[in-house]
Amino acid sequence: MSVPRSAAQRHGELCTAIRQHDYRYYVLADPEISDAAYDALLREVEELERDYPELRTPDSPTQRVGGAVTREFPTVTHDVPMLSLANTYDEADLLEFHRRVREGLRIEHPVYHVELKIDGMALAVRYHDGTLRRAATRGDGMQGDDITANARTIRALPLRLREEALPSDLEVRGEVVMYKDDFLRLNEERSAAGEKLFANPRNSAAGTLKLQDSAIVATRNLHFFAYTLVGSVPEIDTQARALDFLRRLGIPVTPHSRVCPSIDEVLDYWRHWENHRDTLPFEIDGVVVKVNDFRQQTILGTVAKSPRWAIAFKFSARQAETLLEDIVFQVGRMGTVTPVAVLRPVPLAGSTISRATLHNEDFINALGLRIGDTVTIEKGGDVIPKVTAVDLARRPARTKEFHFITKCPACASTLVRPEGEASWFCENVECPAQVRARITHFASRGAMDIEGLGEAVVDTLVTEDFLHSYADLYTLSTHRARLVELERFGERSVTKLLESIDASTQRPFDRLLHAMGIRFVGSSVARLLARHFGSLTALMDAEPAHMTAIDGVGPRIAESVHRFFRDPHMRNLTQRLIAAGVTHTMAQAVDDARLPFFAGRTFVLTGTLQHFTRDQAKALIERYGGTVSGSVSKNTAVVLAGMDAGSKREKARALGVPIIDEEEFLMQLPETDTSR
Ligand code: IVH
Repeated sequence: MSVPRSAAQRHGELCTAIRQHDYRYYVLADPEISDAAYDALLREVEELERDYPELRTPDSPTQRVGGAVTREFPTVTHDVPMLSLANTYDEADLLEFHRRVREGLRIEHPVYHVELKIDGMALAVRYHDGTLRRAATRGDGMQGDDITANARTIRALPLRLREEALPSDLEVRGEVVMYKDDFLRLNEERSAAGEKLFANPRNSAAGTLKLQDSAIVATRNLHFFAYTLVGSVPEIDTQARALDFLRRLGIPVTPHSRVCPSIDEVLDYWRHWENHRDTLPFEIDGVVVKVNDFRQQTILGTVAKSPRWAIAFKFSARQAETLLEDIVFQVGRMGTVTPVAVLRPVPLAGSTISRATLHNEDFINALGLRIGDTVTIEKGGDVIPKVTAVDLARRPARTKEFHFITKCPACASTLVRPEGEASWFCENVECPAQVRARITHFASRGAMDIEGLGEAVVDTLVTEDFLHSYADLYTLSTHRARLVELERFGERSVTKLLESIDASTQRPFDRLLHAMGIRFVGSSVARLLARHFGSLTALMDAEPAHMTAIDGVGPRIAESVHRFFRDPHMRNLTQRLIAAGVTHTMAQAVDDARLPFFAGRTFVLTGTLQHFTRDQAKALIERYGGTVSGSVSKNTAVVLAGMDAGSKREKARALGVPIIDEEEFLMQLPETDTSR
């Protein structure tokens, strides 16, 4: 049956009208019609589509909830990694940032773009020919989850963009948030239903986006605010213009942002929002200061995981007072014993706090803390609250002096406090608390990413004697029959768990190295070591001097790695991992080399280079995810100009394409590629 002209036409008009109303509501915050009138339009579209299903295209306003239930989110690789921001809490650090920017750009008055730092969850959204195609979480910055079905339910996020003159591929990044009032309402409902409460709006936004049923996500009324346009668009050469452009496309952008021509205005903006944050319908945790000009951003570049052209200037911690009910002890994966305050629950900056870190013995002694004291707690930038002060005037009678424990709470071995260290350690490598923590770390997302192996499961498997180390994970399948007998396990979850363990053997070598839990070896250092040594066996036998040759690896790290691999127990675990077939060489991990300066961007080379041949430079660009083209156009991201560069450089200048010299190019390369 074909669709009558009149029906198709009416459908088209209604869709256009609905999109226009969405734009007015979400982007301009200036709705023209009532909710009831809007719903009537939507109902009419639904009726037409029921009569003529051909009209039901994926970008129709009725298609926000597909009803599909996603079992597992596919992993996607970000073409351009999703970086994070360096944080600061005080003016001095901000001024230091300003100094570095001026020095890096060799200008006195850089122009900044300041934005609210919205406290939600980052989302990368891709449009193809103006239609929403994919939405992914940040994940570890390199890879995230494809949560398109859930993102489509966010009404602020257009399924179809407004402007016609668009690049065919466009990626927008921003923050998904739950408004404070929606969060409170949701928690009330959950409390009434006897469900677990969300700690704060951010957790509930994040938890909602990870739901498997998009129909539930649709009821949660999430919002989206864009703050990054990925890739280059002609004429869009500043952050301010990029946000204007996104608004014209119908995408809501981070509100209340401003161009600040001086650092004093940046400070004023920060002070203003520190005092007015409660007037906003959503949570913010600071402001973001960005160099406005894209060309200047390129010149400043990126270090490790964050750009040099931006900084998060956070608000200072919020405080509360409460009662210290007890002090308990946690044993970390390195054996560190951390005292933890057990508190009478108290609300603080959007969540309820019942535990806070007490750092170490000296800290407790310095405050002279006793159980029963009234303490001040603060939530800083990190999620872990801390005790910062004690009110001795309110100390009740008959409290006892507090003494740090001398035996491990998990294995009862005698604790030691090495000279020069602030912490007490449990030195028993087989201590069950440490074993649990090491396995949990090994399985965590940033490490081997073994789904279904959270703290509770690890706890059971260690207690029930299935696991004594992370190497035991890879022989767990031999105990299958006994595993399914465990409480809360069963056939299906055991199969799933064993499959995820098996899948983890494919993680890149640097992730394995991070997962192994060597002191001072986080994900960045692991990557440096993996690239430099190329294989686990090479690293195992390396001398500290070989390691300190790498930029970013100092004697402290080198010593720690060396000590780790000298330990017979650790060597044995390592050999067992290799025997289990985990990826332990670099050659097996291919697409790990992408760098934001290069990934997905087109380069043009011109003039004579001093350090490389043209072919070498091209190979380097391609290795880190870029492409090289022979001629300059509006699609060129960067021109690398050597000596005696001619017409290509002129053309780049005319088009406003950033031009860099060889020094700047060298600065973008990892050390391993420049120390030739
Ligand atoms: S810019 C490299 N702008 O803060 C640029 N981020 O630590 C990175 N965020 O992952 C992002 N508001 O989730 C940027 N106006 C804003 C932001 C913002 C919130 C979040 C975002 C990001 C994290 C950075």
